[in-house]
Amino acid sequence: MELQRSFSGLGELLPCDRKVMDLTSEASISSVVDRTEPDIILNAAAYTTVDKAESEPELAYAVNARAPQILAQHAARRNALLVHYSTDYVFDGSKSGPWAEDDPVNPLNIYGASKLAGEEAIRREAPRYLIFRTSWIYGPHGMNFLLTMLRLGRERERLSIVDDQTGAPTTSIAIGDTTREIVEGALAGRFGAPENWVGLYHMTCSGVVSWCGFAQAIFARAGRMLNGRLPQVVPISTAEYPTPARRPLNSALNCEKLARIFGVQLPTWETALDQVFGLL
Ligand SMILES: NC(=O)c1ccc[n+]([C@@H]2O[C@H](COP(=O)([O-])OP(=O)(O)OC[C@H]3O[C@@H](n4cnc5c(N)ncnc54)[C@H](OP(=O)(O)O)[C@@H]3O)[C@@H](O)[C@H]2O)c1
Repeated sequence: MELQRSFSGLGELLPCDRKVMDLTSEASISSVVDRTEPDIILNAAAYTTVDKAESEPELAYAVNARAPQILAQHAARRNALLVHYSTDYVFDGSKSGPWAEDDPVNPLNIYGASKLAGEEAIRREAPRYLIFRTSWIYGPHGMNFLLTMLRLGRERERLSIVDDQTGAPTTSIAIGDTTREIVEGALAGRFGAPENWVGLYHMTCSGVVSWCGFAQAIFARAGRMLNGRLPQVVPISTAEYPTPARRPLNSALNCEKLARIFGVQLPTWETALDQVFGLL
């Protein structure tokens, strides 16, 4: 939805939900690409239920690895630009500072491994691609941490939130607008020849916080929405909240390459959160 908003006016857009293009079907992908002959393929779709992926690896790999590979092959044939999103979960979280693009990957779960396989397929097969690894996406619509916190905050007096996983909450708005700026600039030749800008980039809001800190920041802004009845937010450890999929403790991504090549920087996660509250 945010990508559609961000890209409106840049040529003719064909939004594809799963009714239009089923990413588990090569025939479905091929028929849409062959019929529409796109110059740019934007792939924000993915199998994103991280815990469920542990018990559905074939489906996770079909959507997150095989489908990007098929899109990459089509992009190569058409010389189209393929824009794709990946994840902080390609890393194992063991580093103390923010992860750079060329730091060693070591996904801890099926979702991360399937997304990494998608990245590798694109890098292998598509001559013109942009892969943006991002993290902790949320926005004013859909299912996400912010909206879940606001719902739970209405229902419960006390919320226990993991405090030892840190990363950068990033809005779908910032991702959409930054992607548009980069794609438009690349097509207009502002960053030079494709060999200067084709590649893998980290794209997150700046700053780092834990899930618990993020929840506290949400409730610090939600007083009026919850009529002043704010829940108590209790920090807990990952060990106290076991899940089927393991998650990295440190997910922070270093976005210096994005700034260096494209001259763009996303807002701080606090500024972006204020912006989303302005839209709720
Ligand atoms: N959410 C995060 O915190 C996060 C963090 C890092 C990276 N990312 C990456 O960022 C991108 C966007 O993530 P998101 O959280 O915005 O995703 P999302 O809200 O879960 O949306 C994923 C979309 O993919 C579609 N989809 C799933 N299986 C499909 C299939 N077989 N055929 C066609 N469409 C299918 C879903 O359609 P339905 O609605 O019909 O199921 C949904 O519209 C993904 O590449 C994700 O891996 C996300």
